[in-house]
Amino acid sequence: MAFSFFRKKQGDVAGQVDFDHLPRHIAIILDGNGRWAKRRGLPRTAGHRAGSENFRTIATYCRDIGIQYLTVYAFSTENWKRPKDEVETIMGLLKKYLLEAIDTMERDNVRLHFMGDLSVLTPELQDLAAQCNAISARLTGCLCSICINYGGRAEIVHAAQSFANDCLTGAVKPGDLTEETFENYLYSGHIPSPDLLIRPGGEQRLSNFLLWQCAYSEFYFTPVLWPDFSKRELLKAIANYQHRSRRFGGV
Ligand code: FPP
Repeated sequence: MAFSFFRKKQGDVAGQVDFDHLPRHIAIILDGNGRWAKRRGLPRTAGHRAGSENFRTIATYCRDIGIQYLTVYAFSTENWKRPKDEVETIMGLLKKYLLEAIDTMERDNVRLHFMGDLSVLTPELQDLAAQCNAISARLTGCLCSICINYGGRAEIVHAAQSFANDCLTGAVKPGDLTEETFENYLYSGHIPSPDLLIRPGGEQRLSNFLLWQCAYSEFYFTPVLWPDFSKRELLKAIANYQHRSRRFGGV
């Protein structure tokens, strides 16, 4: 079987996963970095560093086992309220990640996409994101979407404004709007809705993440903090998901 190596490596949990019927799209709220650092007597920024490295590990593993779409909540519209040095560290980690991605994504066949209002980021970060988008356009592999300065409500308002503008130009009429056409105005217009939403860190809420897209997603909550959320934890979440019965409102 194509991914037998990766299956064996995760031992017993891998045996509980049906690798031929994986969720197509997994979304993750990266939570618990601060507490991870505090438990070790480290500054919160060390937690974000560990969280960023774990994102690389989990994204690569998703690609290896054949997950087609991975979307992560890295920085919300509310996260600007955090202390300046913490925000700067997160933006620095993002820059480091993007710089490395530009060098490796072609080799790794991992596509990167960004969701959120990037216009408030530094021109340098915006430029790096644009370079990642350009490289991704030539690739076919797992699509990793990183949500930055993202809020679910803001996304819906932004989509409504774009639709209203298209009405004003005469490109569309108000009566053309359906759930399907509206989705094209969202940041995620070109990707399917998440099948599985994972929130590490112990909280059991959506925190303004993918409000539209998670209408029928299965939720998995775990107290494990994001930097400790290993490949094995991911497989546990997938195995749990595979026992759910998804009816999408039917019987
Ligand atoms: C939530 O944990 C985490 C964040 C707000 C930032 C996440 C950012 C990164 C992991 C770095 C850059 C990301 C990528 C994808 C390269 P928290 O600080 O709220 O944790 P706490 O609840 O324990 O305080």
